[in-house]
Amino acid sequence: MDWPKGVDGLCYGGDYNPEQWPETVWDDDVALMREAGVNLVSVGIFSWARLEPREGEYDFGWLDRVLDKLHEGGIGVNLATPTASPPPWFTLAHPDALNTRPDGVLQVHGSRDTYDVHAPAYREASARIAAELAERYAEHPALAMWHVHNEYGSTSHSAHAERAFRVWLQQKYATLEALNEAWWGSFWSQRYSDWEQILAPRATQYLTNPALELDFKRFTSDALLDHFREQRDLLRQAGPEIPITTNLVFGQWVPVDPWRWAEEVDLVAFDSYPGDADETAERESALHADLSRSWADGKPWLLMEQAAAAVHSPHGAIAKGPGRMARHSMIHISRGSKGAMFFQWRSGRGGAEQWHSALVPHAGKDTRVFREVVEFGAALPGLAETVDAPVEADVAILWSPESWWATGGHASLPAKIDYFENVAQIHRVLRDRGVTVDFVSPEGELGEYSTVIAPTTYVLSRAAAENLRWFTAGGGRLVASYMTGAVDEHCQIWLGGFLGGLTDLFGIRVLEHLPQPAGELRALWNFGAAERFCELVELRGAQCVTQYATGEVIENQPAVTVNPFGEGEAWYVSCKLVDEAWDRLFEALELNGPGQRGVDVVDRGQWRFIINHTDTEARVGHVIVPAGAWAVDKRPE
Ligand code: GLA
Repeated sequence: MDWPKGVDGLCYGGDYNPEQWPETVWDDDVALMREAGVNLVSVGIFSWARLEPREGEYDFGWLDRVLDKLHEGGIGVNLATPTASPPPWFTLAHPDALNTRPDGVLQVHGSRDTYDVHAPAYREASARIAAELAERYAEHPALAMWHVHNEYGSTSHSAHAERAFRVWLQQKYATLEALNEAWWGSFWSQRYSDWEQILAPRATQYLTNPALELDFKRFTSDALLDHFREQRDLLRQAGPEIPITTNLVFGQWVPVDPWRWAEEVDLVAFDSYPGDADETAERESALHADLSRSWADGKPWLLMEQAAAAVHSPHGAIAKGPGRMARHSMIHISRGSKGAMFFQWRSGRGGAEQWHSALVPHAGKDTRVFREVVEFGAALPGLAETVDAPVEADVAILWSPESWWATGGHASLPAKIDYFENVAQIHRVLRDRGVTVDFVSPEGELGEYSTVIAPTTYVLSRAAAENLRWFTAGGGRLVASYMTGAVDEHCQIWLGGFLGGLTDLFGIRVLEHLPQPAGELRALWNFGAAERFCELVELRGAQCVTQYATGEVIENQPAVTVNPFGEGEAWYVSCKLVDEAWDRLFEALELNGPGQRGVDVVDRGQWRFIINHTDTEARVGHVIVPAGAWAVDKRPE
C-alpha cells in the first residue's frame, strides 16, 4: 500500500468544500490547485446534509462530478465520511442521539459535532452513510485515502453513555467489589451495590470521584474508537487497499488516547493550530510534530490541517507573516510528516468559520498568501527524496494522556498542575538546545533511548513503574520531575513516599508537597530557581545534586537528586524548575544538538533540515540560511 495511494512525494493541499460553492467555481479551483502544486484534497468532511438530504435519499451526483474533475486535474482525494456533523433531519428524528452535557442539557444541531456516539440511531446512520460512500467510491481512480469523521472528541453524558459505561466497567472490573475498591468507594458513601447505580460524571453538588472521571475518559476514548473501527472496517471491505485515517485533534478535553488510536489507523493524521503569536507558535508546532511522529511509531504520519495565515479565533487571531506558513510546514515535514495540509482550500463566504484563512483567500489569487502557497508548492517536489529518511532521537519524553486528563480539573489536586506546560517546557528547552526528541508512552518501548524524561507524570500505573525500573536497571538515564508517580492507574495515591512506588530506584522518598505562592521564586544553589511547587525530599541512598537555598520547610533540603540503579541512574527534580534551570540541568547531562534557539536543525540520515525562524542569517556547519528561510542539505554519506 502506498501512502496515500498514487501521491508521489509529499502531500500538499487541504480541506476542500466544493459543496459550499457554485459549480462554476470548481474548474477555477482545479486550475488554481494545479498552479499551487496541490496533489491531495480532503473532500466531503461536513457534507452529510448534501449527500443524504432526507433519510435514505442520496445525492451523489455533485460528488461524482467533483471527484472526476479532481482526477482529471491529477489531484488525489482524501475522501471523508461526514459523520462529524449529522444533518438537521437526523437530529430532529433522533433527539436521543444528540450529546448531553454534564449538566443534563441536550445540545441541538446548529453547530457541528452534535452527536452521541453511544446512541444506536447515530451508529446506524453513520454506518449507513459510510457504507454508501464505500460502495460508490472505493474504486474511483481519484481516491487516495479515506478520512473517517473529523477530529473525534465529543463526549456525551447521556443515558446511552451511562448504559455503555456500565458494560465497559463490568468488562474491566468484573465485580462491583473490585470497582468499589478501585474507586475508593467508601469515601463519601459512594459504594455501589448495583451496576445500575453508576452514572456518567454529571453536574454534582461538589467534587466528583477522580477515579470515575478517569475511567469515563478511557471509556469515551474506547467508544469513539469503536465508532472509527466500525467505519474503517466497512471502508476496507469495500474495495482495493486504500489507507484509512482520521485526523486527531489536540487538547486536554479530547477523550482520545492517541497511543491506542495510532495502532488502528493506517496513517496518523494531526491538526496543528498553535495558539500564540510569538515563538510559542513554532514551539508548539514542533511539539505537535514530535508527538504525531511518536504516536505513529514508524507508521506514516501527516500534518492534516493547519492555517495558511490568520486562524479565526474568538480569542484573538494569529497572523502569519511572510514565510511563516512555509516554516511551520517545514517544522512538520522536517520531523517526518508526509506533507503539509491545511484547513482549508478556499476561504468561505459564510458560516461560522468565514474568517478562517485559506490557501485561496477571500481576495483571490492575486495576494501575498496565494503567492506564498504557490512558491512553497513549487519547492516540495524537490524534497521527495527525503520522505522515507527516518528521524532519529536518542532522548524521549514520556507523554501520558492519562496524566493530562487526571490533572485537568485541579480541584482534587494539592495545587494546580499544568501537565501540558511541564511537557512543553522540557520539549522547548531541549529544542532550544538543538536536541531532537521522541515521545513515548509510560508503558511503551523505552529501550532505544539513552535518556527518558518523565515530566510530572502524575498517573503512573504499576506496569509503567516496572517499565521505568527495567529501563533504568538496563543502563538508561531516567529524569523525573515533581509529582511523578503521585497516583496509580486508579488515581489512588502511591503510599510510602509517592514516586510510583519507585523509592528504591530514585533512592529518595517524597515526604510533603509544598505549593508555593505565584510570583515567588525559590532559589536552588548554583542551579537557577523553582516556582509554584516544591517537595520535601528525604535521601535514602541518592546523592543531592543541589538544594533549595530558601523556602519554609525546604531550605537546605535536596531539590535535585541522582541515584545509581543497576546499570543506569535515576534523577529526580522535586520542583517546577524555571526554563534556565532545566537548561542548566541538561547542560550537566550533556544533552546537546546541532540546533539553537530560533533555528531548528533536524538530521535524518543523509539529510539535514534547517529552519531559520530568526530575523538574522543562521550558519549551521557549512550551510548559511537567510533570515526567515529554510534549507535542506544533503550531507556526504
Ligand atoms: C479543525 C477542524 C476544521 C476547522 C479548523 C479551524 O481543525 O477540523 O474543520 O474547524 O479546526 O481551525
